[in-house]
Amino acid sequence: MMELTDAAFAELTTKISKERGFGCASYKDKCLRRRIAVRMRARGVHTYADYARVLDSDRDEYDKLLDALTINVTKLFRNWETYNVIAETVVPTLWARPEPAIRVWSAGCSSGEEPYSLAALFHRHADRVGALGQLASRVAVLGSDIDARCLVAAEQGGFEEGDFADTPDDLRRRYFATTAPFTIVPEVKRLVRFERRDLLAQEPPPGPHHLIVCRNVLIYFDRETQERLFDTFHAALAPGGFLVLGKVETLLGAARTRFVAADGRERIFRPL
Ligand SMILES: C[S@@+](CC[C@H](N)C(=O)[O-])C[C@H]1O[C@@H](n2cnc3c(N)ncnc32)[C@H](O)[C@@H]1O
Repeated sequence: MMELTDAAFAELTTKISKERGFGCASYKDKCLRRRIAVRMRARGVHTYADYARVLDSDRDEYDKLLDALTINVTKLFRNWETYNVIAETVVPTLWARPEPAIRVWSAGCSSGEEPYSLAALFHRHADRVGALGQLASRVAVLGSDIDARCLVAAEQGGFEEGDFADTPDDLRRRYFATTAPFTIVPEVKRLVRFERRDLLAQEPPPGPHHLIVCRNVLIYFDRETQERLFDTFHAALAPGGFLVLGKVETLLGAARTRFVAADGRERIFRPL
């Protein structure tokens, strides 16, 4: 019975990958099974084969399934301790470099909270050192995600009360409208652009990047894929750049010898 279920699961995930180009094979099985089960419950079916039939008869179900598979939970300044180290160490270090351009990539940015938070920290630093005039020509932040629907929300740059749970009051007051939809101020918004990108299928955006932030994304991928992505990030980083993984993920395998920790606690690394 178990073998039958596994075969039906493999058939279903192959179908999803083929029909919608979603690289199921690189995601952790447990994670896929849990998310598919959510949709199966919603549609009142009990077997993978029956769910495959639902997908065949109702194409909208694919969108709902992909929505369930791409877990989009995020917040502005999520885990402030990590942003605090970015603000105190990473941003001033990059700003002090002689090269003018500072390219930032938030990989798996969901609805934009992460790239806007990063852009706000660069704005605050430029303001503190009296160099706001240089900001727009120096700093470019790219937010990318596989989920096109999230990116539509990201482009709007409006947020809900719950998005601010980790945001220090002074940053909220300075960078967001005081009434709903609490939009990000234009001088920060214009530093950020968004692009749909599948981390599994596409080359990284043209770099080199000085700061790559990829948090709460790799956790969904199997180990081999995580290791491959560490290589990708290594190649995409400028010498002296930073990779921020945050609280949940950490370097695995050979990548541990190719980066050095800039902050072990917040999992911030620099390429060797
Ligand atoms: C939990 S959110 C993390 C958002 C943000 N980085 C944070 O830490 O708050 C994970 C994001 O990864 C995206 N994602 C999942 N698979 C992806 C892939 N293959 N390529 C690009 N983004 C992906 C999802 O769409 C989702 O928006």
